[in-house]
Amino acid sequence: MKNQLAIVLDFGGQYSHLIARKVRECGVYCEIKPYTTPIKKLAELNPMGIIMIGGAKSVYSEGAPVCEPSLYELGVPILGIGYGAQLTAHINNGKVEKAKEENGEVTLNIDDPKSLLFEGIKPASTCWMSYSDCISQVPDGFKITASTANCPCAAMENPENRVYAVQFHPETSYTEFGNIILDNFLKKVCNFKGDWKMSDYVDETIKELKNKIGDKKVICALSGGVDSTVCAVMVHRAIGKNLTCIFIDHGLLRKDEGDMVEDICRKQLKMNLIRINAQDKFLSKLEGVTDPETKRKIIGEEFIRSFEKVGKEIGKVDFLVQGTIYPDIVESGAGDSAVIKSHHNVGGLPDVIDFEDIIEPLKLLFKNEVREAGLELGIDENLIWRQPFPGPGLAVRIIGDITRDKIALLQEADAIFREEVAKAGLERSISQYFAVLTNMRSVGVTGDTRTYDYTVALRAVSTNDFMTADFVRIPYEVLNSASTRIVNEVGGINRIVYDITAKPPATIEWE
Ligand code: XMP
Repeated sequence: MKNQLAIVLDFGGQYSHLIARKVRECGVYCEIKPYTTPIKKLAELNPMGIIMIGGAKSVYSEGAPVCEPSLYELGVPILGIGYGAQLTAHINNGKVEKAKEENGEVTLNIDDPKSLLFEGIKPASTCWMSYSDCISQVPDGFKITASTANCPCAAMENPENRVYAVQFHPETSYTEFGNIILDNFLKKVCNFKGDWKMSDYVDETIKELKNKIGDKKVICALSGGVDSTVCAVMVHRAIGKNLTCIFIDHGLLRKDEGDMVEDICRKQLKMNLIRINAQDKFLSKLEGVTDPETKRKIIGEEFIRSFEKVGKEIGKVDFLVQGTIYPDIVESGAGDSAVIKSHHNVGGLPDVIDFEDIIEPLKLLFKNEVREAGLELGIDENLIWRQPFPGPGLAVRIIGDITRDKIALLQEADAIFREEVAKAGLERSISQYFAVLTNMRSVGVTGDTRTYDYTVALRAVSTNDFMTADFVRIPYEVLNSASTRIVNEVGGINRIVYDITAKPPATIEWE
């Protein structure tokens, strides 16, 4: 795997992950490295290609992320995208200037059809632009290979040195031939074979885990969700009995979920499991708390405290394994990205942690890739296709303060919605679907009696990466039966609404 490595050099922004995924979809193993990685370190990794991607900064602005010019002397093919293209011009003595901002789809004209990058694409196609600076003069040795109406240098290259740059974003689905352009760079410029598969990642990771852990003791935070289960099974494959899974039941799980998790881990997967019933502890800490970020922080911290406690009880523990995946890191504000939510498995880790080290074997992967890895590991398909459930659980689906009554109410409503979705055979076509207990009460009528009860919102989204999502056009009949059953079967709820917002501007969870 390592002798066929591509590196995505991340200069900020939120899109390095998308590139990484696209590269892996081309059958090329790829890792994201921050732009601050010393060139010597990058060279030691022996990459066959480097893709530079950045955020919205100008290369001239104070504190703009830059790399050492020696990057271009490694002899490794380079593709600069967006900010990465401008930096390539800037470092190699070209010129970058302020331009009229452009965001959106524009026509890309190929000026040099012989460019390896543009083999197999139409002379005029759609591309996605997002810039406020433009390359106004290409460096010596470079030529312009594509342009748009407002951007005379939409692509440039120095084929001799195998350095390429595109101002537009081939990683987005709005660029018509984006996948082909990336594939051309990887296969035609870098000469990748493109035969990397998820099973390679799984085998390699298990080997690395074996080497790193040896016969030391490991505990794994298990939630029963796809990520933590795949993660635990991977570590279990590597070190067997030296792994103890700890399942903290914080009392904010879906209906009957605690028992199900216990059953799957003990009986199906044959893993050591300790279940901690910490419902009282979590709920008392959360009493009266209404602010979403405070809820998340409390739960994150409480998780770690619980782990510390069991860790001490089971003797010396060297490593803590967590099922953090890539979007968790991005959305928690790693690097230059803004903090959107503190994901409990990233943001809540206090400094006082009592473990030697944390292992996160899935942190480079996206949800679909985690599922693929899970199937490679032979995990039951039903478990692999379970919809994701956030670490803080129902706490982020109960708006306002959390009480036991509200949890019970939401568990029932959510279970009914899930049953109705399953009855309609829609479970696999919807990425995530659940009920939310809004803090709003409104007037209703049951028989002759006035009610003043809660409103439940139903949410169902489809998404590839959970970074953006659309609401699902669920058939009215399904919504109708869910709505009728919830108001009839669950007391305290007299109104059901359906959330029809995409992400962005909303997020998938309500908190
Ligand atoms: P949002 O609400 O940010 O959710 O659009 C994106 C995806 O992440 C899940 N999610 C979490 N997962 N810990 C997790 O492990 C968390 O703290 C967390 N918060 C949100 C959410 O369910 C959706 O799949």
